[in-house]
Amino acid sequence: MKALLLALSLALAASAAPARTLDTIKSTGKLVAATEGAFAPFNFYEKDKLTGFEVELAEAVVKKMGFAIEWKAGNFDTLLTGLAQNRWDVVIASHAITDERAKAVTFTAPHYCSGGIVVSKNPSIRKGNDLAGRSVAVQTGSTYYENVTKLGVTRNVRSFPSDVDARAALATSRVDAWVTDRFTAMESAKKNPELKFQLGDLLFTERIAAATEKGNTALADAWNKALAAVMADGTYAALAKKYFGEDVRCK
Ligand code: ARG
Repeated sequence: MKALLLALSLALAASAAPARTLDTIKSTGKLVAATEGAFAPFNFYEKDKLTGFEVELAEAVVKKMGFAIEWKAGNFDTLLTGLAQNRWDVVIASHAITDERAKAVTFTAPHYCSGGIVVSKNPSIRKGNDLAGRSVAVQTGSTYYENVTKLGVTRNVRSFPSDVDARAALATSRVDAWVTDRFTAMESAKKNPELKFQLGDLLFTERIAAATEKGNTALADAWNKALAAVMADGTYAALAKKYFGEDVRCK
């Protein structure tokens, strides 16, 4: 009986394993960050190495916090749930702050503002209304899915595991349009001019932030303080210039 109780309480303790507190991170000196690695120019692989605006920014922020950083990469739709499973301390993968997500995680202060745009190869598909009756590719679990659906003009919104897959669907003309971030679209159009991607109008704007486990406000506050410092000391401006040629902070 005693053994059973012990096993039970151990199992309970394991399933309710608390996220690493700021103090634990301090004692190990290392923060574990997760991203996707398939959303250029924000987070992507260059050969085998994770890089991008968010990767470099997180490295600067975590350095300012006084920690080393360890990267983990995962599919986009596993990233936020991984916080509660204690697989990593912070997620930075271009997540827009939404009420729905804010029920499950604690968002930090936003690190950029952007929006979703319509990309097509057909010059007459530029605006939300032009999507009427059209097939539109978006990434699974992204805000693009709900935002396109919300327009109420098409029932043919198709989800792809990564934004790269959604882009490929447009490149090979399996869909009429692709909705993605404005900077991701610009990068793609620039890198592959032969695809003749045409960038349409901004459909909606969003505030993008990193996230910690729900309620880990000590960690989120420490991140915010370091982010503010990096935004004030020129580091942020230099990274924004390097990746976008413009400042992308939320105004
Ligand atoms: N901003 C969009 C969202 O919040 C797309 C994010 C996509 N991020 C990524 N790493 N693929 O859902």
